[in-house]
Amino acid sequence: MKWIYSVSLAVTLAMQPAFADVQPAQHPLTPQARDAFVSDLLKKMTLDEKIGQLRLITVGPENTKEVIRDMIQQQQVGAIFNTVTRQDIRAMQDQAMQLSRLKIPLFFAYDVIHGQRTAFPIPLGLAASWDLDALADVGRISAYEAADDGLNMTWAPMVDVTREPRWGRVSEGFGEDTYLTAEMGRTLVESMQGKSAADRHSVMTSVKHYAAYGAVEGGRDYNTVDMSPQRLLQDYLPPYKAALDAGSGGVMVSLNSLNGVPATADSWLLKDILRDDWKFKGITISDHGAIKELIKHGVASDPEDAVRLALKSGVNMSMNDEYYSKYLPGLVKRGEVSEQEIDDATRHVLNVKYDMGLFNDPYSHLGAKESDPQDTNAESRLHRAEARDVARKSMVLLKNRLETLPLKKSGTIALVGPLADSQNDIIGSWSAAAVSGQAVTLLQGMKNATDGKATILYAKGANVTDNKGIQDFLNLYENAVNKDTRSAQQMLDEAVAAAKQADVVIAAVGEARGMAHEASSRSDITIPPSQVKLLDALKATGKPLVIVLMNGRPLALVKEQQQADAILETWFSGTEGGNAIADVLFGDYNPSGKLPMSFPRSVGQIPIYYNHLNTGRPYNFEKPNKYTSHYYDAANGPLFPFGYGLSYTSFKVSPVTLSADTMPRDGTVNASVTVTNTGKRDGATVVQMYLRDQVASISRPVKELKGFKRIMLKAGESQTVTFPIDVDALKFWNARLQQVAEPGKFSVMIGLDSADTEEAEFTYL
Ligand code: NOJ
Repeated sequence: MKWIYSVSLAVTLAMQPAFADVQPAQHPLTPQARDAFVSDLLKKMTLDEKIGQLRLITVGPENTKEVIRDMIQQQQVGAIFNTVTRQDIRAMQDQAMQLSRLKIPLFFAYDVIHGQRTAFPIPLGLAASWDLDALADVGRISAYEAADDGLNMTWAPMVDVTREPRWGRVSEGFGEDTYLTAEMGRTLVESMQGKSAADRHSVMTSVKHYAAYGAVEGGRDYNTVDMSPQRLLQDYLPPYKAALDAGSGGVMVSLNSLNGVPATADSWLLKDILRDDWKFKGITISDHGAIKELIKHGVASDPEDAVRLALKSGVNMSMNDEYYSKYLPGLVKRGEVSEQEIDDATRHVLNVKYDMGLFNDPYSHLGAKESDPQDTNAESRLHRAEARDVARKSMVLLKNRLETLPLKKSGTIALVGPLADSQNDIIGSWSAAAVSGQAVTLLQGMKNATDGKATILYAKGANVTDNKGIQDFLNLYENAVNKDTRSAQQMLDEAVAAAKQADVVIAAVGEARGMAHEASSRSDITIPPSQVKLLDALKATGKPLVIVLMNGRPLALVKEQQQADAILETWFSGTEGGNAIADVLFGDYNPSGKLPMSFPRSVGQIPIYYNHLNTGRPYNFEKPNKYTSHYYDAANGPLFPFGYGLSYTSFKVSPVTLSADTMPRDGTVNASVTVTNTGKRDGATVVQMYLRDQVASISRPVKELKGFKRIMLKAGESQTVTFPIDVDALKFWNARLQQVAEPGKFSVMIGLDSADTEEAEFTYL
């Protein structure tokens, strides 16, 4: 699918200040011209200059801007990470262009994960929108804002499929499903790179983390991954491939080992699959410090060994560590690494610089000095309307007893909870250059929405956590969570007093943003005890209780699901989060989001995912039997299944009709349902199509998502949705690692979540 500018976006972009006129391209952006140019340049470079290109350096306490400027002049660095203003970037580029011998421009990279100056919802929330047009807007605006800050590359999208809610990085990806993740990744690459990464307002993407980082054992970050080749090929690799097929110029190599081999030293991943099978032509970049880590992994005996291994395995550029610069010259001298291997890696760096248009204009993302914004955080640089629109699409209504929601904009509303007025949390982790002071909290959003028509009583009620160890962890690098000066009891009493005066209680609870981040794995995925206490006390008031969740992972919510009259999952919803949540709470927007991950009942059920195998002894809810696959001490199945989400209206899905009962070898079958909005409000929903290969040479999942469509229906309106199914949708990797579609019967299941579907079957001939 092609991404399309939304009208509002096109208008907003057109309104931005103009930049220096682009000179006619001296170096045409074609592979032929590039190859000739780069070959010529390589001939002029010394070995040291080539090795310098292979280093991407992080600006930070170890390497200050001043230190780096000297290195740039000596051509010891190829690219820079972690500098985000045009002034800083221009100063470094000047150094390269004015003082270095060959005047090879630098490129500048950053983690633009869900927006740059404007924070959109975290990626898990974006996935919950199932809205590729909205995602394309996010990609386009993020790239626009990043390029406007002078950046050329982003460390995104993260397309690590994961079935591990304990892993803090689930917040950065698109959830548990291969197909959904692939669609999201592809859309972001297309929209961020635009027609060309060289365009003034595009950035090159670097898809990460290749490969299978989402499957770290136990959800513990940086841990080992071990999986069958079938599962790797079938479930974990396709999203990377989709993002690369969409043209991503870069790949970031993951930190984990896969079946014993660290990805940074895995020539099977980096050469055989990436280059030979997938024909990837772009650049591979290590993750932060990963080359050094080969020693700790126990596959390299010393720094030189690590460098030799990484380079020969196919890591072109090193992120941050100095190992390539320090040890490659000696390795080449001793003949352990050939000059040809250095040339190959350097060529990839120069190629992407060429593709970024930097040899035509090293300042192409900077413009003239005079055009620099006086205030990099100026309001005029934000895209608030678009952020609000996407944020409300990302929210998932998990429960709504007796139509507790939407709320009336009148009466008295108690808004309680440590996340209700937290600007820092609502923008989410990896919020790039977004400033939390510009974020709209839920309290502010509700005030904006009610505009004095309702009385809003706010009380914090509890700290996010009272656990000193966790507070210290979260505050390690920044002042992330403040422990309130009041005692827990005082806060609780204040909240209960507010609740007693109110017609309805809104409790904004969940996680601090730092609890769902890199290096933030949890062994317990419940709401922290301080907030559980608050919910208990609020429940005891007998007032209708609406839980507004802010969190970056699936949580175990068994108790909360029983307590609450309504639950709205809002993730970390970004700069405009508070307004967007208020839109949903008050019914100005009818929720339409669907879960991109199953929500377990408890941590003991993990891994829990919808596309599991049937086993020889599947558990049957209707006829429970001891000797079937289940836990005897808990209800089975997830609390909320993949694809699930309610609306303020109701929908009915017709039985599935098929265009034919059989699919010939190269043919297609169309599967259709008619969806009717049977309620009284207009609303959007997501129609999901799943397939099951009933009998195959290896056991196949009970269902797999193979298509989805977001539709908008007015009250009473019907729409027929048709999914074409072709042979690619039937294929899988068999025991001999061949990708095949085997003849036989297939079930087609269509519904508005993964658990409740209409079913038909056809035969593949
Ligand atoms: C390490 C993380 O794993 C990666 O995702 C990120 O892009 C880099 N650090 C740079 O911040």
